[in-house]
Amino acid sequence: MTKSIVILGSQWGDEGKGKLVDLLTDKAQVAVRFQGGHNAGHTLVINGEKTVLHLIPSGILHSHVTCLIGQGVVISPSHLWAEIEKLIQKGIDFKNRLKISGAATLVLPYHVALDQAREKAKGSKAVGTTGRGIGPAYEDKIGRRALRLCDVLDAARFEEKAKELLHFHNFVLQNYFSAEPVSLASVLEEGRIAREHLAELIDDVPARLKQYRQENKTMIFEGAQGTLLDIDQGSYPYVTSSNTTAGGVASGCGYGPRYLDAVLGITKAYCTRVGAGPFPTELHDEVGKNIATRGNEFGSTTGRPRRCGWFDAVALRRAVMINSLSGLVVTKLDVLDSLEEIKIATGYEYQGQQLSELPVDTDILAEAKPVYETWPGWQCTTEGIRNWSDLPKAAQNYLNRMAELCEVPIYMVSTGAERKDTIILRDVFEE
Ligand code: IMP
Repeated sequence: MTKSIVILGSQWGDEGKGKLVDLLTDKAQVAVRFQGGHNAGHTLVINGEKTVLHLIPSGILHSHVTCLIGQGVVISPSHLWAEIEKLIQKGIDFKNRLKISGAATLVLPYHVALDQAREKAKGSKAVGTTGRGIGPAYEDKIGRRALRLCDVLDAARFEEKAKELLHFHNFVLQNYFSAEPVSLASVLEEGRIAREHLAELIDDVPARLKQYRQENKTMIFEGAQGTLLDIDQGSYPYVTSSNTTAGGVASGCGYGPRYLDAVLGITKAYCTRVGAGPFPTELHDEVGKNIATRGNEFGSTTGRPRRCGWFDAVALRRAVMINSLSGLVVTKLDVLDSLEEIKIATGYEYQGQQLSELPVDTDILAEAKPVYETWPGWQCTTEGIRNWSDLPKAAQNYLNRMAELCEVPIYMVSTGAERKDTIILRDVFEE
């Protein structure tokens, strides 16, 4: 029986991971976040009630699941506390069920100011970040100067370090970006929130994971964003600042790669992207608008409209390779219901050359033209279908072709926002 499963986005994020993680944690005892921060937004709809989580693993809505946040995650104390408070209002008990690595880097007000000032200065070349300070927080971590959650325990030491960092960052804000400086009070307030509310949740995450493994607990490692936004493997520099791919699990929470049993890649039946950066199959026509409207394609963190396009098998094959995907979970199939025909990119053309791999040079990717094959649409509703055999033949053909082109099996197909709107083809826990 499979015990440690990674679930991650295999496109540019927003693939519908929240629902799938929530569904799979029915059979798991532990859910772990290993990277990213509150730039993520995982939407869950349970009994018609919508919950959006940004930092807390989606498993928190199941009372039998313990949730861990590894040190690869960057944490904004005020945002995490606000998220916890919302759960308290919903009557969800988090004490003893939410554990956070003391080594997690803090996202502080100067990171937010730097993120926004930098994007503004870049003008038309902006990355289109979520403006939440994620990149600058990771920069501090890699620069070996970050304040971490464990630093808040000693208030005097926190203040001393915060003053030093503030001096450094305010210098850049004022002298390079001509932006307003950040106040020490706002940074210390984050420290206070962390000390008063989060310090009691600090735990040794690698040691806890070792214990759970020895206790034979089933664990789910929940990725945020998506493969093509990975700092190393994505369309750089139009990426986020963490490792969103399967390798990020080992480094992001101290759980060795040999312990992972399966990696599921979530993919939409089409593609979306928020923010700037190359997107070869992007649609600028009525079909794109139709997908955006039917799919309600607006960011769950920023509310920004998502760019929409056809399913890209070249990009997905890359995700299969990088993540060693065991299989796919296809979401939002029903969004394509009304289309007469549906396209899949099977390769690219660049300056007269055929490309079968995703180019790593972002400028080449930006100019690559997709080579499509066209499949007939099914033009009837698939919403809420729960059995493969109830799917129209054209939808089955389309899904089978996706799996064939990506060279991995499909484990599940999601046909609606609710947990029950899911076709389960293979049970990852039983393999
Ligand atoms: P950052 O993570 O805020 O620095 O943003 C960097 C890039 O990642 C931008 O293109 C964002 O739109 C994108 N991004 C960050 N988080 C998410 C997410 O949860 N879903 C989709 N895109 C995201």
